Amino acid sequence: MLIRRPDDIAASEITPESLYLSRRAFMGAAGAVALATASPGAARALGVQPKDEITPEEDATSYNNFYEFGLDKEEPKELAKNFKTRPWTVQVDGLVKKPAAYALDDLLKGLAVMDRTYRHRCVEAWSMVIPWRGVALKDILAKVEPLPSAKYVELTTLLDPTQMPGQRRGTLNWPYREGLRLDEAMHPLTLLATGMYGKTIPNQNGAPLRLVTPWKYGFKGVKSIVRIRLTETQPRTTWSDATPNEYGFFANVNPTVDHPRWSQAKERRIGEFLKRNTLMFNGYADQVASMYSGMDLRKFY
Ligand code: MTE
Repeated sequence: MLIRRPDDIAASEITPESLYLSRRAFMGAAGAVALATASPGAARALGVQPKDEITPEEDATSYNNFYEFGLDKEEPKELAKNFKTRPWTVQVDGLVKKPAAYALDDLLKGLAVMDRTYRHRCVEAWSMVIPWRGVALKDILAKVEPLPSAKYVELTTLLDPTQMPGQRRGTLNWPYREGLRLDEAMHPLTLLATGMYGKTIPNQNGAPLRLVTPWKYGFKGVKSIVRIRLTETQPRTTWSDATPNEYGFFANVNPTVDHPRWSQAKERRIGEFLKRNTLMFNGYADQVASMYSGMDLRKFY
């Protein structure tokens, strides 16, 4: 199993110098958070989260999961340095009116580019706060026009073992694949990011195009996307193929449903010492919970 248990991660690895950074988060419209009350202790007792602050860019771009470029957190930054992200083509196919191999610029042309700061919660129980830049996946879908029979979206990473050393090993069933139900894909929070921290997205974070679904565990955030396929049936996904009892299709952040090998109740925010309580749907419940009403979230994890 590759995703590491929180206990396997040395504190030195996740507690950078910027322990008590004082920068204030500029939260996007969608990133509203609970405010801290009088003291952090009181806030914790009430289950209230201290205010989110943006994770230092250096941490978000040097502590990565991108197994195509190595299994260690610091490897992707180094091994993806020369990864070629231009020209870039995205194949759109399946149940759409306008299937085509789109040059990335054509796919994005005319779409609103948004800056959105979101919490980013990894299944390994660490988290960050990242200012993304990107387009709404719903705007891309509107452009390619899903057919009425389309119910899911599958997103696939580039397969290129010559550039991606991790793909020369059978660690995962390459290429990396993820999927969303169409309503999740159409949700206004769902982005395809092309940038972060006001700049072009770095290779190690999924250049030139990666998925961001802030109410789900980070592994949903498939990087370096080359294919968007609309389907009628639920697509297979890399992690649920690899370990179905550990990683489900939905991957919604849920502090009440533990991973079979560790608790999901708390998380370590990169740059902080004390653990925080993990929030239902990563704190976006008011915006996304209605999509799952009536579903047993223990079964559909
Ligand atoms: N996408 C691809 N193609 N390969 C990967 O290994 N790792 C996932 C996700 N997307 C991964 C991927 C996991 S486990 C996480 S937590 C996030 O990317 C990490 O994103 P970040 O490095 O930008 O924080």
